[in-house]
Amino acid sequence: MTLYRVALFCALAGFLAGRPLWAASLGADTLAARVKACTACHGEQGRAGPDGYYPRLAGKPAGYLYHQLLNFRDGRRHYGLMSNLVEPLTDRYLMEIARYFADLQVPYPPPARPVVSDSVLAHGRRIAVQGEPQRGVPACTHCHGERLTGMLPATPGLLGLPQDYLNAQLGAWRSGQRRAHAPDCMREVVERLAPADLAAVAAWLAAQPVPVPAAPAAKSPPPATAARPACGSDRVATQGPP
Ligand code: HEC
Ligand code: HEC
Repeated sequence: MTLYRVALFCALAGFLAGRPLWAASLGADTLAARVKACTACHGEQGRAGPDGYYPRLAGKPAGYLYHQLLNFRDGRRHYGLMSNLVEPLTDRYLMEIARYFADLQVPYPPPARPVVSDSVLAHGRRIAVQGEPQRGVPACTHCHGERLTGMLPATPGLLGLPQDYLNAQLGAWRSGQRRAHAPDCMREVVERLAPADLAAVAAWLAAQPVPVPAAPAAKSPPPATAARPACGSDRVATQGPP
């Protein structure tokens, strides 16, 4: 067992052991202490792991984070180590964790230097801000906000995410590994694009600086049209824990 794994194991054990009610009266048992199990992978204050694999949590919309936790627990997303961790937790506790990370305002790292050609970046930018109307592809900005910092209540921002993570998520939607609540608008968007288009848009997004402030736009997403599919995530986002 590496030291990292030992630390992770201890953090996870503490997380689950932290549930009994008596623990709540102890000063040290704050939510910040309990989510050490999460930040072992997701980085200090949920600012992302060091290698582009563990996504950032800080500052993402609470409704989005909450429903991702349900998605892992209920099998719409897959990552065994995390699903096991969230499985025993109540919806209410998951919402508490989601709110905790959503409220953290932590600076973003500078964007990575792009490793693709200028013409690929230009193609990626066009898809992100204009879409491809002739192929029925809406601009990413339609739903992820004009500044691409996300839109409350359920749409996450697309900037400040590593290219590997973006590629993995778009690929997972294409292969059906990642699903959102029906109707799954992201699945429709991804299906209308070729793998090379997805790679171009991921490369362009990963190369953009994150605007300050990076908070998600507060307005709700525009109504669905033929060009902009409806998103089940919007519908369920306002549904908190029972
Ligand atoms: C063993 C490492 C590990 C631990 C521990 C872990 N996560 Fe994760 N988490 C991941 C990985 C890897 C992903 C991305 C999986 C994928 O590609 O879909 C992820 C994804 C997520 C996402 C989705 C993020 C997004 O932008 O879509 C949320 C939310 C999340 N984790 C919350 C948590 C919380 C809360 C905890 C603590 C209860 C936790 N994680 C513990 C590794 C971990
Ligand atoms: C019709 C609205 C809509 C459009 C258009 C759209 N998205 Fe999304 N996107 C969403 C929603 C809603 C989610 C959250 C899904 C969920 O709940 O898992 C999402 C999630 C994502 C995620 C996951 C982020 C994370 O932190 O894990 C990525 C990546 C993404 N979209 C990329 C794109 C790209 C690239 C485009 C443009 C080609 C695009 N989206 C266009 C609605 C949209």
